[in-house]
Amino acid sequence: MTGETLSIRVFRAKSEIVNTTIIENRAILDLAEDAGLEIPRNRTSGTCGTSIVSLTSGTVPIPDEILPGLDEYLNNEGGILSCCLFPTTSCEIDITPPI
Ligand code: FES
Repeated sequence: MTGETLSIRVFRAKSEIVNTTIIENRAILDLAEDAGLEIPRNRTSGTCGTSIVSLTSGTVPIPDEILPGLDEYLNNEGGILSCCLFPTTSCEIDITPPI
């Protein structure tokens, strides 16, 4: 990150439900919870897929070895695991999974 204040905006369909500041090395799900929004989770290991949301803008790097809770198809559709991935730019997500 560059030192500028980055934000994450969370939508449900077209309604914005959270707008909060990104804290480095804090997962999307934790940022949302800090702002009062609970995103479903089962575990935070990236294996179950429960915390999947849709990235609609911005950058959330995916590890080279894709996590078991996500597959290439879902990722190509914008799916990211909010429990264990970290935005590196301001971004917008929809809490609705991509499919
Ligand atoms: S809570 Fe299971 S993959 Fe995120």
